[in-house]
This record gives sequence, structure tokens and C-alpha cells, in this order.
Amino acid sequence: MSESTFAETIAKDQRVEPRDWMPDKYRQTLIRQIAQHAHSEIIGMQPEGEWITRAPTLRRKAILLAKVQDEAGHGLYLYSAAETLGADRGDLTKRLIEGRQKYSSIFNYPTLTFADVGVIGWLVDGAAICNQVPLCRSSFGPYARAMIRICKEESFHQRQGYELLMTMMGGTAGQRAMVQDAVNRWWWPSLMMFGPPDGDSPNSAQSMAWKIKRHSNDELRQRFVDMSVPQAEALGVTLPDPVLRWNAEREHYDFGEPDWSELKRVITGDGPLNRQRIERRRQADSDGAWVREAAAAHAAKHGSGR
Ligand SMILES: [Fe+2]
Ligand SMILES: [Fe+2]
Repeated sequence: MSESTFAETIAKDQRVEPRDWMPDKYRQTLIRQIAQHAHSEIIGMQPEGEWITRAPTLRRKAILLAKVQDEAGHGLYLYSAAETLGADRGDLTKRLIEGRQKYSSIFNYPTLTFADVGVIGWLVDGAAICNQVPLCRSSFGPYARAMIRICKEESFHQRQGYELLMTMMGGTAGQRAMVQDAVNRWWWPSLMMFGPPDGDSPNSAQSMAWKIKRHSNDELRQRFVDMSVPQAEALGVTLPDPVLRWNAEREHYDFGEPDWSELKRVITGDGPLNRQRIERRRQADSDGAWVREAAAAHAAKHGSGR
């Protein structure tokens, strides 16, 4: 494959596969994006994982365990996709725990009550789905295929969150207040999951031209708001945005501006829990070192090493 075949593949909306020729910048952009995505799945296990031992019923515990385990699986598919581009998984983990690669800033917020588990499923996994469904058509084959499987599981995550919230909203006044409080805390960070406004998103244009990305940050954010408002109404919660209202002319909801300075602060490492999240990941990496060594020694002994 050559430069012109690459351009043709993109133009025809076909998939670029790992052995095909690709521009170096395309490869680097994908490695960075897929790694950040993988890191987000793995770090994203922490906020909800904290509630596994405190789940109120066996059913809720089983659901939460399955969900957190799914996120580990998503991380694995994505690290594997990055490896097809020549990245080394150990190196990517090192970049994460040394703070040289980012993960989604949403996971730096604390989970204060069990209602947060429901709201994360509804809003955070919901925002992830808006972001990720178009990635199923991403131009890089292994990434697109990983996303198809991930999106199926994410829609289960979103539904389990919504169902949990519906149950709580049908409970006591205290439970309803807990849900509303969690919605108030997670709404704005969820809107920030789509990244900075289009005018302030320097890499977006190139990623769109390469069909790694299919829609702009602001388009996806609008889609998420339009989807969430009727769901909030059905649930009986309010969204903490005084300017949120239907615009009949645009046929979309108008909504307020997230606090972009907060997003910048959290992205650059100064969120409520950045240090704790990375520290926990670093600890898990060193706790698991002996397993990796033993597996490598076993593979070498039995000649099945790569
Ligand atoms: Fe996930
Ligand atoms: Fe998820």
C-alpha cells in the first residue's frame, strides 16, 4: 500500500488495516487516541469499583461487578488495538502512571453515594456512547471493530444506570434527593466529556479529514443534551442548567456553557482525585509485576513466547 492507496481507502470509506501503509502522523494520532481511551476504561473502573463492597443488594452487587469487569475488557481490546500500530502495552501503562498520557477527566470526580453509580451509568456511559458510536466507523479497522463490541456493552451499562435511578426515584424522599444531588454533580462534568468547544480543539480537523473522528465535539455534545433532557423528565429529576430550554427554530435544546477553566484544571492534573486515581493504578501495576514475570517465564520455558 502506498500514499495514494491510503488516500483512496479513506476517500472510499474503507478500513485501513495494521499492515497497510499509513502516514506517520495518522499512526501517532491513533496510538495517542486509542491509548487515552484504553486508560480511561481502566481508570474508570475505580470510581464505581469503590461501591462494589457497599452495594445495597446481591443483585446490585452482581450488576456492578459485571459492569466494572466489562470496563477492564474494554481496556484490553483497546490496548490490543494500539499494539497493532506498534505500540507496547507496558510502555503505554508507564506513560499513564508517569502522567505523560491522559485519560478522561470525568474519572477524577468522587462517587459520594450509591446514586452516583446510577448517574454514572446513565450520564457518563451515555456520553461515552454518543462519543463512541461514530467510532465504530473509524477509518482504522482494529479500532472500529473494538468499538462495535464496546458499544454493545456500553448500552447495557447505560440501561442498568437508568434502571437503578428509576428504582431509587420510586423509593423514599431521601433516595430521590440522593439521585438529584448526584445528577447536579455529574451533569456538567458529563458535558465536558466531549472535549473543548470546536474553536478550541486543535487536532479535530485533521482527525475528521482522516475519518478517525466523524463529528465535532459540539455536535456530539448537542446530541447528548437532546437525548438526556427527555430522559431526565421521565425520571423526574431536573438538570442543573438555568438556561436549558427547547429551541423550536433550531429543533435542539439550548444549554449553558460548561466551566471550561474547570475542564482545563482537571485535565492538567488538578481535579479532585487525579493523584489518588494514578496512585491506585501505579500500585496495581507494581502488585501485578510478579504475575507478568511468571507468565513471561512460563511462555519462555514452553516456547510459546512471542
Ligand atoms: Fe467502557
Ligand atoms: Fe461503560
